[in-house]
Amino acid sequence: MNHFDYRNGHLHVEEVPLATIAAEVGTPAYVYSAATLRRHYKVFAGALASANPGVNHTICYSIKANSNQAVIKVLADLGSGADVVSGGELKRALLAGIPPEKIVFSGVGKTAAEMRAALAAGIRQFNVESEPELAVLAEVALSMGVKAPVAFRINPDVDAETHAKISTGKAENKFGIPFDHAREIYRLAAALPSIEIVGVDVHIGSQLTNLAPFESAFARVAELTSALREDGHTIRNIDLGGGLGIPYVRNAPWPQPDAYAAIVNRTVGHLGCDLIFEPGRMIAGNAGMLMTSVIYVKQGTDRRFLILDAAMNDLIRPAMYDAHHEILPEKQPDDRSGWDRADLVGPVCETGDTFARDCEVPQMASGDILCLESAGAYGAVMASTYNTRPLIAEILVDGDRFATVRPREDVDQLIGRDRLPPWMTDDETG
Ligand code: LLP
Repeated sequence: MNHFDYRNGHLHVEEVPLATIAAEVGTPAYVYSAATLRRHYKVFAGALASANPGVNHTICYSIKANSNQAVIKVLADLGSGADVVSGGELKRALLAGIPPEKIVFSGVGKTAAEMRAALAAGIRQFNVESEPELAVLAEVALSMGVKAPVAFRINPDVDAETHAKISTGKAENKFGIPFDHAREIYRLAAALPSIEIVGVDVHIGSQLTNLAPFESAFARVAELTSALREDGHTIRNIDLGGGLGIPYVRNAPWPQPDAYAAIVNRTVGHLGCDLIFEPGRMIAGNAGMLMTSVIYVKQGTDRRFLILDAAMNDLIRPAMYDAHHEILPEKQPDDRSGWDRADLVGPVCETGDTFARDCEVPQMASGDILCLESAGAYGAVMASTYNTRPLIAEILVDGDRFATVRPREDVDQLIGRDRLPPWMTDDETG
């Protein structure tokens, strides 16, 4: 559920008319609802708590989904931790007020410098994905005179049944330690004085709409945890990653947090471990929309195009994953009469710059505003400046207030980052 709905025929974000935001900040812009972020966090936390009574759990919001400081702060204020995958994300999490003891560091390519920063901050856990990474972490920790808290990310060889580009739990994927090699790497780690083994980690992919793969993966984690304990290791944390899918199609069924939480309980609930979760999309996805205006309505040979002021550089998901984002016009459409079919496209010079093909839309004219829904996760964070299109604004609404939480980038600023080499400047050539 989100807080985007019509009042008096006009789209509102919580208490604020979308048109008011558009008039003040212009389009395109990302618009987020704080109430929706809070709601999603609480639904997830509530489901986990009621299905797993007496089990400690920490939600480490996966900030790659939407790492705006204001978004992280909304969640930090609810007690969220963070899952980070770079030194930059670590900095963002700390700056937004996430306590280091609630930060886990994931990713296959952590550098020594990033490890140093995370150890200095005192994070909760490194999710280590390879032997070479373990060796570097051990060396960095040793040089700092500290112990690095480590969980190994296990590759359970489970098909997440999601888009191939965001599926991470099969043996052929670059992620995690092969299941059959897990006991061996724990044995190696136990012998390293600067490493403290604290847990097991798994993340099999994103936008899972079928819960069965979670059950298979978590069952493997439980099996491994018992084996590791038999081997004499202390396993206190189980990190189950993120991945819970959201509805991108209005009114479509989607996996329920309650059912997910019940699977958690069935598979790992009996192990006496603290549980860690890394949801990203299910918190932020449907808490944000991409607000855009129609520049032109163009009649092609056999189809109509709505040419929007947002493009693939602002929201890459349709071009990259063939993702579907529903359309919500600012003016509430009366009824289905007068609707037409059109392609929704951006101004970028690629046919791939298409948000929707042959979709049903109400009559729209140049200047009309509409939103692409479910754009709160993996929207702004994946934007680029392709075609020298500056990064767009991000707006946070909270009740009857709204604020720009990232101003629209300026084109001069963007070009101003380029430098001519000395041999091209007048001084040198003259
Ligand atoms: N933990 C780890 C280790 C991850 O790699 C990810 C996402 C998450 C947690 C959060 O997963 P979520 O709960 O959001 O599904 N750009 C793609 C999604 C990439 C997901 C990458 N990893 C998209 O737009 O669909």
